[in-house]
Amino acid sequence: MQTRTGPVNSSDSPTNPSARPTQADGEPANDSGPAAVPRHVAIIMDGNGRWAAQRGLPRLSGHREGVDSIPRVLDLLTDRGVEYLTLYAFSTENWTRPPAEVEGIIELLHEALERKSDLLMEKNIRVFHLGNTDHLAPDTGQVIERLQTLTRNNTGIVLNLAFNYGGRQEILAAVKRLIREGIAPEEVDEELFSRCLFTAHCPDPDLIIRTGGELRISNFLLWQSAYSEYYHTPTLWPDLDAAELGRALDSFSSRQRRFGNIPPES
Ligand code: FPP
Repeated sequence: MQTRTGPVNSSDSPTNPSARPTQADGEPANDSGPAAVPRHVAIIMDGNGRWAAQRGLPRLSGHREGVDSIPRVLDLLTDRGVEYLTLYAFSTENWTRPPAEVEGIIELLHEALERKSDLLMEKNIRVFHLGNTDHLAPDTGQVIERLQTLTRNNTGIVLNLAFNYGGRQEILAAVKRLIREGIAPEEVDEELFSRCLFTAHCPDPDLIIRTGGELRISNFLLWQSAYSEYYHTPTLWPDLDAAELGRALDSFSSRQRRFGNIPPES
């Protein structure tokens, strides 16, 4: 978790009626006009198990195929000018899955992070971990840490890997930290709170995509998604291709974001 950075200017707080919601980087939220590109796309990668079942394969084959889809999606989003991609890889609730599947997913993550470090450097991608490293084996914690350090000077797309991540847990941790640091209630505003979250380094997600057909948020970026646009698709994560991703981005571009305001007079 990031440390608190400097005093907080409360002029952008929601008590200022002209202000759009602010975020960790102190920037106003992305106000998309027509054909806008989302700065930050976040994806709930659902459907790996069903992808495998459709082919009579074990669930882990679906997760493996899911990992293989990541470079393709990263390339497509980079080409479209997206600056931040957050992938929901493993939630705090996913620990309740059968141990063999949990171990398999963690192993896949570990392997992918080790094997893809050259590619991440070559493509100038900066990696951040969103989530806790407790419950993870020390070597998995270390590989995540190493990759964050290795890529810290990269200036291309930022890849946030939400792994052992839960939105409610993240909010509780931020509350506990503010109390521990003795912050007075009147000092707490949206910007300060956002800086206590794992996403302190990036703007809120503009677009959240969920593959696999389910229509729920599953404890993902609960604070940060206050004004995110949603896109759902029945396409299973390993099948997400350029056409479907293009439809998601086009759908975003066609929306008018009002952040609680009313449409401008035409
Ligand atoms: C959801 O599909 C997928 C997951 C819970 C795991 C996704 C994890 C990866 C793709 C590995 C992450 C690795 C990196 C490098 C980010 P599901 O199992 O819920 O599918 P189902 O709904 O069809 O059963």
